[in-house]
Amino acid sequence: MAKICVVGSVNMDIVTYVNDIPVRGQTVNGKKLVETAGGKGANQAVAVAKQNKDVALIGCIGDDYHGDMLLQSLREYKVDTSKLKQLQDTASGKTSIVVEDSGENFIIYLEGANKKLDKGYVRNTIQAEKNCEVLLVQLESPYDVVLEAMKTAHEQGIKVILDPAPSNHVTDELLQYAHLVLPNEQETREITGITITDEASALTAATIFKQKGIEQGVLKVGATGSYVFDKQDMTFIDAIQVKAIDTVGAGDCFAGAFASAYVDGLSLVEAAKHANIVAALKVTKAGAQDGIPTQQEVKDFCTERNLPCYVTK
Ligand code: RIB
Repeated sequence: MAKICVVGSVNMDIVTYVNDIPVRGQTVNGKKLVETAGGKGANQAVAVAKQNKDVALIGCIGDDYHGDMLLQSLREYKVDTSKLKQLQDTASGKTSIVVEDSGENFIIYLEGANKKLDKGYVRNTIQAEKNCEVLLVQLESPYDVVLEAMKTAHEQGIKVILDPAPSNHVTDELLQYAHLVLPNEQETREITGITITDEASALTAATIFKQKGIEQGVLKVGATGSYVFDKQDMTFIDAIQVKAIDTVGAGDCFAGAFASAYVDGLSLVEAAKHANIVAALKVTKAGAQDGIPTQQEVKDFCTERNLPCYVTK
């Protein structure tokens, strides 16, 4: 079976649900607080696994009780955790998240064990993973580690998909090792200086990505939809209308679902349409990983909405 490798963060998300996100200095009542598995890398790996694809996660967790819970959860979702290091005397990555009724959120991230992922380990692990066809990376892990992962994959002939989140660490050096990018609106703006408002501005942003060496990608524009660029072509994909209750991890879910379809040989547009459906369904459910739909749930949703279904196996 084709294999997707994810290098990235694993966090325990401590999430408070509120009516409205408070403004600075304001105190508001919360509705509930939950501890739930998250982390951009782990979320992406779970999204791949829930699409029934073989996936290995390369990262670090701590030896605290959160680390044990995160490991157990990843195993239950059938992510290969044999490359996940559990470090002694180390706290796992954690986040403090607030989600309001509209589904929007803010996140505060404490790196913990994620900070200790080292580039030698990542290089050796990718080199040893002979089945890896696609490497999926984001930017909650140390910059030099992500760069090393991308360089190693490049040398091994592995396709690199970069989800540039959070985008404050993106450099041209990093971008030169990506085959494909999946930025959201804000990430596109930070990397290219372009605010996408229409097809013309999306084309300009895509041109800038191409100048930086990336010929293919999906520019996500939230509730509007997304623009797929592939060399000279640009295709707009409409967003799917749903009632959002929790957007945490929607981008990670998109990336994992996209990679799952891509590794199966679907076209870029088909892979993006598939990811669009999976991520739309995710925001209707709570939890960065718990909310990611299974392949069967995706099929059922396609039937219910009369949408073309791109699920392959
Ligand atoms: O992208 C969502 C994720 O970002 C959350 O699960 C949280 O852990 C933060 O890393």
